Amino acid sequence: MLIKHPTDIKSHEITEPSVYRDRRRFLQATSGAALAFAAGASGLLMPTEAAAGRKLDYRRNPQLSTDESPNSLKDITRYNNFYEFGTSKEDPAKSAHTLQTEPWTVRVEGEMEKPADYHLEDLIKSSQLEERIYRLRCVEAWSMVIPWVGIPLADLIKQFKPTSRAKFVEFTTLYDPEQMPGQRRAVLDWPYVEGLRMDEAMHPLTMLAVGLYGEVLPNQNGAPIRLVVPWKYGFKSIKSIVKIRFTETMPKTTWALAGPSEYGFYANVNPTLDHPRWSQAKERRIGEFLKRKTLMFNGYADEVAGLYAGMDLRRNF
Ligand code: MTE
Repeated sequence: MLIKHPTDIKSHEITEPSVYRDRRRFLQATSGAALAFAAGASGLLMPTEAAAGRKLDYRRNPQLSTDESPNSLKDITRYNNFYEFGTSKEDPAKSAHTLQTEPWTVRVEGEMEKPADYHLEDLIKSSQLEERIYRLRCVEAWSMVIPWVGIPLADLIKQFKPTSRAKFVEFTTLYDPEQMPGQRRAVLDWPYVEGLRMDEAMHPLTMLAVGLYGEVLPNQNGAPIRLVVPWKYGFKSIKSIVKIRFTETMPKTTWALAGPSEYGFYANVNPTLDHPRWSQAKERRIGEFLKRKTLMFNGYADEVAGLYAGMDLRRNF
C-alpha cells in the first residue's frame, strides 16, 4: 500500500495557497511560547526565519509515505481530538494556545539502563527528522492523511537501551489543569496514557512527531511531541508526551480504562469487527462526502500484519 513519491516534490507544492494563508493566521494566533520553542529547539531548525511559519529541517521518506493526497492544514488543525482542551472537535484549535511547549522535558524511565530526563531539543538532535505521509484513522470512523515530521521511535529506543525485561512502552501526556483546562473535568482518568508492545514501538512506521506540513506541530495536534502509529486507531497516537516508561507488564491505557469493552489495548484496525456502538466497515475521509471502505490495519497490512500473527483479532480488537 505504500507507494514511492517522486523525491523532488517540495512540501509547499502539496499545500494549496489558501491553506498557507490560513496557516499564517493560525500561527499568529498561537502562543509566543510555542513559537519560542521553534526558535530554540535545535540546530536542525533554521535560526533566522521569523517565528510564524518556522520550518523544520527534515528529509522526505517516500518509501514510508502513502501516495494519497494529504488533507489541508485547515482540516488537520481544526478537527481534532484532544480532550485536555475539550471534547468537541473544534475545542483544541480554540483553546490549546494555553499549552506552554518550551521548555519541554521528557522523562524516560522503567526497565532501562539509565532512566533520565531529556530536553526535547536533545531528543530531536539525536536523530534525523523525516517527513512521512501517513493515514490517521480514528475509532470514530473518520480519517485524514497527514504529512508528519518526526523521529523514528526505534532510533530513540535503541539509545535508551531498555533491558530484556522491557516488553511494553507506556507513554504519558502532561498533567497540568492550569494549562489544559479539559483536565479540570473528569471526562477521562487523567493524565492520558497509551502503550505499545515493544515490537509495535520498534516498528519502522512508528514515529514521534514534532511537526506537520514541514513546520513545528501546532499545539492542538499534540505539540511539542506526540506518537504516531499509522496502522492503529487514532487514540493510540498520544499527544504532548512528558513520560516514556519501559514496562514488563501491559500498561493500563486511558481508553481501555474508560471503556474496556470498546477500546482494546491492541486496537488493531479490524474493520470486520464492529465497534459496540457503530460499524467499522466504512470511514469518512475528512473533506470527502462519500464514505470509503476501511482497510485492515488502516491499509498497512503488508507492513504490520506479521506483528499480530496468531492473535485472534476479534478478541484483541
Ligand atoms: N492524546 C491526548 N493526550 N488526548 C486526547 O484526547 N485523542 C486521541 C489521539 N491522542 C487524544 C490524544 C484521538 S481519539 C485521536 S483520533 C488523535 O489523537 C487525533 O489526533 P489529531 O487531533 O492530531 O488528528
